[in-house]
Amino acid sequence: MDKKDAHLIVLGNEKGGTGKSTMAMHIVVGLLDVGKKVAVIDLDARQKSIARYLQNRQTFMANGGTKVAMPDFMVVAQSEAGLVKDREIEDQKNLQKALDEHKKNVDFIVIDCPGNDTYLSRLAHALADTLVTPLNDSFIDLDLLGEVSPTNFQVKKLSFYSEMVWDSRKYRSASGRPPMDWVVVRTRLASLDSRNNKRVHDALNALQKRIMFRYVPGLYERVIYKELFPSGLTVLDLEKVNSLSHIAARQEVRSLVDSLNLFE
Ligand SMILES: Nc1ncnc2c1ncn2[C@@H]1O[C@H](COP(=O)(O)OP(=O)(O)OP(=O)(O)O)[C@@H](O)[C@H]1O
Ligand SMILES: [Mg+2]
Repeated sequence: MDKKDAHLIVLGNEKGGTGKSTMAMHIVVGLLDVGKKVAVIDLDARQKSIARYLQNRQTFMANGGTKVAMPDFMVVAQSEAGLVKDREIEDQKNLQKALDEHKKNVDFIVIDCPGNDTYLSRLAHALADTLVTPLNDSFIDLDLLGEVSPTNFQVKKLSFYSEMVWDSRKYRSASGRPPMDWVVVRTRLASLDSRNNKRVHDALNALQKRIMFRYVPGLYERVIYKELFPSGLTVLDLEKVNSLSHIAARQEVRSLVDSLNLFE
């Protein structure tokens, strides 16, 4: 029997620097860690954060480091054709080619989107089986989802981003595919349970039904999530962890992967 197509996980939000690439990398390693085959497509050809993270991982092994599991990875750059229509056709062709190359060989394809609205990013959102949107620990970040009243958490207006996700969902259901699972995850959480933290938590709890996403716990702000970038490793790859903070970080990443409900 033919292998099922890979499950597509897209990391997206239209705000720069919220932690998409970092979260993408940790989800990728979390999946590899439980024996899954993974491919990564980086749609942020300017920064190439996750592609660089993975190159560092290859270099680490090439230089004699312990062998660690690797995903396939590639960067898909935006078309530079003169006409919008030609750019869109080329973007679509290039993304489809990348997906076709991997979809029968791996269990999961993880796509990391740039922090701004691009046609490639829209295409990825329209194809996502699971959309993961990392959100930071501040009321301002809720703007990404919509204009929210700070007193009763009513949504006054959906954001452009939520509208775009809504359109992606319509497109999916029109093409007869099962609904997308939109997961909003907080990240870079302050380690002290601040009042602000609690308010954002309450707001997301209230918003999840109205905007139709699933709100799950995420990652705290921890040095270990950024300091291993040059070696291409994550806290899950370390042979020995002896600080409580590292143990907690591992647990956080594993819980995050579990909460995406990716396994049957
Ligand atoms: N949980 C975390 N703890 C500590 N640092 C973090 C965490 N998540 C992200 N960072 C750091 O925050 C910065 C931005 O993160 P990252 O590049 O993952 O964001 P991004 O959403 O992909 O950004 P862009 O929109 O520019 O692509 C990086 O320096 C990264 O190391
Ligand atoms: Mg990024």
